[in-house]
Amino acid sequence: MKPLMRLLEGKLNDKELELVPRSYDIIGSKNKAVAIIEIPKEIKNRKELIAEAVMKLNKNVKSVLNKISGRKGTYRLEDLELIAGDNNTEVIHKEHGYLLKLDPRKVFFSPREATERQRVASQVRPGENVLVMFSGIGPYAIAIAKKQPEIEKVYCVEINPDAHEYAEENVRINKLAHKIMLMNDNVKKVSSKLKLKFDRIVMPMAVGGEEFLDVAFKLIKDGGMIHFYSVGKEDDLFIEAEKTVIQVALSNRKRIKIENRVKVLPFGVRKHKICLDIRAGVP
Ligand SMILES: C[S@@+](CC[C@H](N)C(=O)[O-])C[C@H]1O[C@@H](n2cnc3c(N)ncnc32)[C@H](O)[C@@H]1O
Repeated sequence: MKPLMRLLEGKLNDKELELVPRSYDIIGSKNKAVAIIEIPKEIKNRKELIAEAVMKLNKNVKSVLNKISGRKGTYRLEDLELIAGDNNTEVIHKEHGYLLKLDPRKVFFSPREATERQRVASQVRPGENVLVMFSGIGPYAIAIAKKQPEIEKVYCVEINPDAHEYAEENVRINKLAHKIMLMNDNVKKVSSKLKLKFDRIVMPMAVGGEEFLDVAFKLIKDGGMIHFYSVGKEDDLFIEAEKTVIQVALSNRKRIKIENRVKVLPFGVRKHKICLDIRAGVP
């Protein structure tokens, strides 16, 4: 039995215990963290008890947030209700040696993508110019600049002003201001102003990212790499994303080679977040 269920034994009946989430995210440090849990509607009258148990199990958790909606809107935020603890939910999260300050109620952040960020960062070579579209609070850019200090520059575009502000602070606290350039703008607007072509473009927005593939093909150097994220159905994970990529590449007269097909994380029922590593403009 999972520790959370064990702690709730005797307080919840067997039927209720069955519905207690098996896992939840913790974002933050050993001094101050926030837990994000999704409590099913059937046991929502038990949410305070569950939150108390989460805090008892994780002494660093000072606030518990309950997910009451899926991710929505341009900023890809979810509705998170405070069910226990401190109303100030700003934390500093550590992953792979760098720090990320954020408030999960104001910005998108997924601690589960830390390994994927390292996978992308480990491909970056010295001297590259990289564009991170939809850069959020800066985790991909910071992972890249930390892993490859000889990078030329990482350019980031993010539309949510709160996420952009956190990105500015994160660049500062990780001492990367000379390597990362942040723009608080819409990828579609900013792309026409960028006079540069990129060695690598990261597109970490699995829902709706395909609308920006055209921009990516216009901004990628011949021989450059696009990391394109999407959501695939379990029966044929990559087929839809590949079809879209081939179509947009054709309309941009770009020859491509899909070098890697990656199953990143579960994404709802029988679906996965996936990534295609696309070599563009191959001879
Ligand atoms: C799925 S989140 C990813 C954030 C970040 N890359 C990360 O992994 O933590 C997508 C982000 O793209 C931003 N976004 C959505 N549409 C955008 C656009 N047209 N231009 C720039 N940013 C956009 C959202 O505000 C959100 O922060």
